[in-house]
This record gives sequence, C-alpha cells and structure tokens, in this order.
Amino acid sequence: MDVPFRVRRAAEVDLQDILEIEGVSFSDPWPQSFFVNLFNDTSWVVEFRGHVIAYLFGRVAADEAEVLNLAVHADHRRRGVAGSILEAALAGFYAVGGRIVYLEVRAANEEAQAFYRKFGFEEQGRRARYYDRPPEDAVIMTRRIGPQKGPK
Ligand SMILES: CC(C)(COP(=O)(O)OP(=O)(O)OC[C@H]1O[C@@H](n2cnc3c(N)ncnc32)[C@H](O)[C@@H]1OP(=O)(O)O)[C@@H](O)C(=O)NCCC(=O)NCCS
Repeated sequence: MDVPFRVRRAAEVDLQDILEIEGVSFSDPWPQSFFVNLFNDTSWVVEFRGHVIAYLFGRVAADEAEVLNLAVHADHRRRGVAGSILEAALAGFYAVGGRIVYLEVRAANEEAQAFYRKFGFEEQGRRARYYDRPPEDAVIMTRRIGPQKGPK
C-alpha cells in the first residue's frame, strides 16, 4: 500500500534534504545562504517516509506573491507532488494577502512551464539573459489567486 506524502511548512531542520534535491535539480543551484532567511509561513515541503522530497519557497509583499524556488526529488516526479505543494502555497499566499503570483523560469525549462500552465499560469514576458550557468532568458509567468485553489 502506498504511504501518503504530507505537505507541511518548511523548517530549518529540512535544509540538508533540500540542499541535496537542489544540487541535482538545477544547473545553478542555490547555496545554503539563499535558503536560510526564507523559512517562514510562505515556505513548504513535502515529506515522505520521514524525508523531504519536495520544497517550495515563496514570498508575499502586499498583494504580490512570488514563487522563488520549487523542486521535487527526481524519484518522485509525475505523481502530483509539485501540484500538491503549489496548491498549499497558493492557499497560503492568499491567506496572507497575496492576490497575484509571479515566477521566473528558464526559457528552456519546458517541463516546468508545462507544469505551471496546468495550474493556470500564463507567460507575461521575458527577461533577457536573466540566468547564469548557462546564460539564458527567463520566462515570467503569472496568475491571479482567489479563495478557490488548484488546477484551472
Ligand atoms: C517541474 C517539477 C517541479 C514538476 O514536479 P512534479 O511533481 O513532477 O509535477 P506534478 O506531478 O505535480 O505534475 C502536474 C502536471 O504538470 C505537468 N508536468 C509536470 N512535469 C512535466 C514534464 N516533465 N513534462 C510535461 N508536463 C509536465 C503535467 O501536466 C502534470 O500532470 P500529469 O502528470 O497528470 O501529466 C519537477 O519536474 C522538478 O522538480 N523539476 C526540476 C526543478 C524545476 O525545474 N523547478 C521549477 C523551476 S521554476
């Protein structure tokens, strides 16, 4: 029988698991110092069998929310894990006043763009050469949030 995964707030004790996933998920992984001030009520993890298998770090300022970082352990992709954590994050953003969400994603990361489109995000524009390692444009995606959450 499948053990269910659990979405909960991120805590500093999760950092080692997060850094391991980060290191193999991105060509330009965030260093530890980028994460340390982001453990708050807009950061989330998914726990499975006592380990963190996914995380989402967000930020809300006034009515604008931002997804800063999201990754799922490679062994657990395409099982709805990112969808579950995004739904929790969108509800959490809304609860603290967020009404519109922004994010940036590498132009070549079509998988992530497909994921975000499924959850109602649309391309709003691009930032030329926003990323290093390798240099690449960012696609800016956005969606509004209301009290209803989840896929559109
Ligand atoms: C993008 C990412 C977070 C998706 O995580 P996930 O848990 O596999 O996503 P879900 O299972 O919740 O997918 C939900 C839907 O998104 C879309 N989707 C997800 N991964 C996809 C892929 N590789 N290709 C195409 N569509 C995809 C599908 O519509 C999927 O539904 P389906 O499986 O029923 O077809 C994951 O691939 C990842 O961690 N990638 C590396 C890090 C990254 O790129 N992060 C985003 C940076 S902005």
